[in-house]
Amino acid sequence: DKGGHKHFMAKEIAEQPSVIGEAIRHYMSADGNSVALPGDDLDFTAIDRLTMVACGTAFYACLTAKYWFEQLAQLPVEVDIASEFRYREPPITPRTVALFVSQSGETADTLAALRYCHEKADQIVSVVNVPESSIARESDLALPILAGTEIGVASTKAFTCQLTVLLMLALKAAEQRGTITPDRLADLLAHLRALPNTLNHALDQNAATERAARKLAEASDVLFLGRGLMYPLALEGALKLKEISYIHAEAYASGELKHGPIALIDNALPVVVMAPRDTLFEKTVSNMQEVLARGGKVLLITDAAGAAEAASDTWETIVLPQVDPVLAPILYAVPAQLLAYHTAIAKGTDVDQPRNLAKSVTVE
Ligand code: M6R
Repeated sequence: DKGGHKHFMAKEIAEQPSVIGEAIRHYMSADGNSVALPGDDLDFTAIDRLTMVACGTAFYACLTAKYWFEQLAQLPVEVDIASEFRYREPPITPRTVALFVSQSGETADTLAALRYCHEKADQIVSVVNVPESSIARESDLALPILAGTEIGVASTKAFTCQLTVLLMLALKAAEQRGTITPDRLADLLAHLRALPNTLNHALDQNAATERAARKLAEASDVLFLGRGLMYPLALEGALKLKEISYIHAEAYASGELKHGPIALIDNALPVVVMAPRDTLFEKTVSNMQEVLARGGKVLLITDAAGAAEAASDTWETIVLPQVDPVLAPILYAVPAQLLAYHTAIAKGTDVDQPRNLAKSVTVE
C-alpha cells in the first residue's frame, strides 16, 4: 500500500517525521532527560574504540556517526565497508565495541564481518530495522531503528532512523564518559524532540526541490560537496541520485576540491553544495566561490542565514529550517532524497525498483 503516494519511495520519505519521532521516544527516558537503551549493559567507559562496519547507505550512516562519537563522546571510531573489513583481517582489541548497521540485517558481507568479530570484540552491537534478522540474532545487543518495512530499493527512512539511533547512542556514550555537560545534553535532547516538526518543514521544500531536480535531470554528471557532518551526507546524496536516476554522481569533502575534482568544473556539471550556516560555512562558501569562478553551476542547500549570505550567484537554492548543527545530517537527508526522487521522475526511471539492484544483498 503506497498510502496515496505514487511510489513507495515517496511514501517512505514522507513517513520520516513520524518514524523518527517513534525512534526518539523509544530511546528517550520517561522524563526526557537522558537516553535509555534496552538492557543497561552497554558500558562506553570500559572501551577505548568503536569499530563500525556496514555497506552502502548504512556505511554512510556510520561515517556520519563517527563525527558524533568522536566529537560528543571523545571516543575513537573506525568505520569500514564490510566487504573490505572482512578480508583485511584487522586486529580487534578486547576493549572494542564492534557495531554493525544494516537495514535488512541480512547483508552477506556485514554478517561475515560480524562473525569475524565474535570472540574478539568486547561486545557486538547492531543497529537494524528487522529485529528477527541474522545480524540482530547474532549480536549481543540489537538496537531496532523502528523505521517500519522499507520497500523502495533506495533506502530513505531507514537511513534517517539509523542516524537518529546512532546519534542517541553517541549521546549515551557522551553521558557515560562525562564528555558532555548536562545542559548541552538537555539542549540536544530538546532539539531531538523537536526534530519531527523540523522535518515536516524540510518536506515543505518539495516544490523547490522538484524545480531543481528538473534541471538536474539534464546533466550527465553531478558533483556533491560537503564538509564535516555534511561530507557523509554528500556521499549519500550522490549514491541516491545514481541509484534511481542513473546519473553519474560523486561526492567529495569540500576541502578536497582543489586536490583534483576542480578540473571537472564547467557549466555542464551541476555541483550540489550542502552547507548549513555552521562554523564550517565560510570555508564551504569559499569552495563554492571557486566553482562559480570557473563557470560552474551551484545548487546550494542551506538555511535562511546561509542563503542570505551566499545564495546570490547560485543556480538554485533550497532553504531548510535552522537546526542545531549536530542534527543537521538528519534534516539535510530529506532534500538529498527528494532531489534524487524528482530527478528520477523527470527521467522516467523505475524509482522503486531500479535496474540491477536488489533490496537485500544476501550474496557477496
Ligand atoms: O540492508 P543493508 O542496510 O545492510 O543494505 C546495505 C546496502 O545494500 C544498502 O544501503 C544499499 O546501498 C541501498 N540500495 C542504498 O539505497
